[in-house]
Amino acid sequence: MPNFTRRIALVTGAAHGQGREHAIQFAKNGADVILVDVPKPVDSVPYPLGTSAELRETASAVEGLERKALVVEADVRSIDAMRAVVADGIAAFGHIDILAANAGVVTYHQLVDMDDQAWQDTIDVNLTGVANSIRAVLPHMMERKYGRIVVTSSQAARRGVPNLSHYAASKWALIGLVKAVALEAAPYMITCNAVLPGAVNTPMMHHDEVYKVFVPEKDAPGLEDMEARLTQMNPMPTIWVEPTDISHEVLHLAAEESRFISGCTVDVAAAYNANLP
Ligand SMILES: NC(=O)c1ccc[n+]([C@@H]2O[C@H](COP(=O)([O-])OP(=O)(O)OC[C@H]3O[C@@H](n4cnc5c(N)ncnc54)[C@H](O)[C@@H]3O)[C@@H](O)[C@H]2O)c1
Repeated sequence: MPNFTRRIALVTGAAHGQGREHAIQFAKNGADVILVDVPKPVDSVPYPLGTSAELRETASAVEGLERKALVVEADVRSIDAMRAVVADGIAAFGHIDILAANAGVVTYHQLVDMDDQAWQDTIDVNLTGVANSIRAVLPHMMERKYGRIVVTSSQAARRGVPNLSHYAASKWALIGLVKAVALEAAPYMITCNAVLPGAVNTPMMHHDEVYKVFVPEKDAPGLEDMEARLTQMNPMPTIWVEPTDISHEVLHLAAEESRFISGCTVDVAAAYNANLP
């Protein structure tokens, strides 16, 4: 793994799931971290998001690795909140080198009967939230002529997916965002890339609503049904991609040595991506 000694990484959605693992992997490899999550519900999301206690647990895991953690409860939907996070981070650590813009939500609705809130929340968190996170940190990175931005998109940004028009629209849009930022930030030696995970073993994927979407032919599908479906879906013999698999690519793109990798999209999806043009 790359060495992140003296590097400061800001991770959004760090209370649990992939964001927690990114924070731990950054810390394991020498970075101090700024941990952001929203410890309150997003109206249209029916499964539990990160809590204050979980965010604190991520911080404890980082501190257990003898790295520093700054915990900030903030909603990526607010540009003011994200600017305050960046100001707090700079006050605590002096600078910020890396942004892992990972926070996201998913719900499942056909567009024809999607309620307004579901559409708005998805776009606000997954697209505007990532743009806010980048806008908040970019002036500081430009001033320092150093920065690594890694955005979490999805395999839903490679294809059309029924019940996910809002989510797919937000995740496809991130690719346009990443490529534009890569060009705008290039003169400052800042890189901006996206990772596109397949189905990852996190709280986002462990609840009844998602099981029903993946296994619609059953009345009350459970985890075993979901796992059987994912096994069929993944060309490689695995049920899930694990959070740590995503972290490895996030850290690769965030490394100092990856200085000329920018504007790229990287699939981490057990070859689920491989039959697309
Ligand atoms: N799990 C998957 O199968 C999968 C697949 C592809 C892409 N992704 C993407 O990966 C990223 C991480 O997802 P995950 O699987 O860890 O999900 P998760 O639900 O386990 O974790 C997401 C975290 O983001 C936080 N968050 C949500 N809204 C927020 C907001 N407004 N402000 C700040 N934090 C907020 C949540 O509280 C939670 O801690 C998301 O962008 C998701 O869309 C997930």
